[in-house]
Amino acid sequence: MTDRNKMLDKINESSNYLKENFNSEVSSAIILGSGMGGFENSFDPIATFDYSEIPNFIKPAVQGHSGTLTFVEVEDKITAILSGRAHYYEGYDIHDLVLPTRVLATLGIKNLIVTNAAGGINANYSPGDIVAIKDHINLTGNNPLIGKNLDEFGPRFPDMTEVYNSKFRALAKEISKEYFEYKEGVYAWFTGPTYETPSEVNFAKTIGADLVGMSTVPEAIVAKHSGIDVTAFSLVTNLAAGISDSPLSHEEVIEIADKTSKTFQNFMRSFLGQINLAI
Ligand code: HPA
Repeated sequence: MTDRNKMLDKINESSNYLKENFNSEVSSAIILGSGMGGFENSFDPIATFDYSEIPNFIKPAVQGHSGTLTFVEVEDKITAILSGRAHYYEGYDIHDLVLPTRVLATLGIKNLIVTNAAGGINANYSPGDIVAIKDHINLTGNNPLIGKNLDEFGPRFPDMTEVYNSKFRALAKEISKEYFEYKEGVYAWFTGPTYETPSEVNFAKTIGADLVGMSTVPEAIVAKHSGIDVTAFSLVTNLAAGISDSPLSHEEVIEIADKTSKTFQNFMRSFLGQINLAI
């Protein structure tokens, strides 16, 4: 278990490095998952940091992301784009995984968008769908807030009634009209790296999940704890195990993510702009 003071020292070390090298208030941030690779390249960067140069940031292992933190201006507000994230299944301490989200909180962000690839359980979903997450179920048995509370960020027992901001979901619904059919769902977080068994998917479905995936929830919990509004989107890359007969493969996930990428990114540029105008 990471010691509380050590964790704070780490967060401050990363935060100080960024503040020394980029001295601006940051309004929003987006953590890119599958299908959003290269999103940062559609903006003029104000500053770019490789994760390897920021103290305590973990370099992402999954291909398709550069492992960079890019600051851009969207509707006159500074926005941080995190291209790539570490996953729990890679074996890191959960507190280290969420360190970038904590650091973003110290930079002043009000709003965090998170994207991921997920398996679809809901019968109304097809591969290629983009689904706004309306709630989550944490099935991992771990939680990034376990350990002594970081009172500087938020309370010991944070309310989780509305992790995924309903106003911003309504905004997403409005903006999506131009890009795709809007859908919402409940995301169940499994550790991975195995895809789920059909029985696990059936269990997730029974308890109310529409999507299964291996990310996003730790960052969302930590952002909510820090008083940051969260919006999250899953790109459905496959039907979850047992929902369709075919076995799952990472190649399939990548293929569908690539196909949907343009629509997802066009929507996100518009959504990010509208969010920045609203905050
Ligand atoms: N399960 C978990 N994670 C995933 C899936 C899935 O079916 N598809 C893409 N990421």
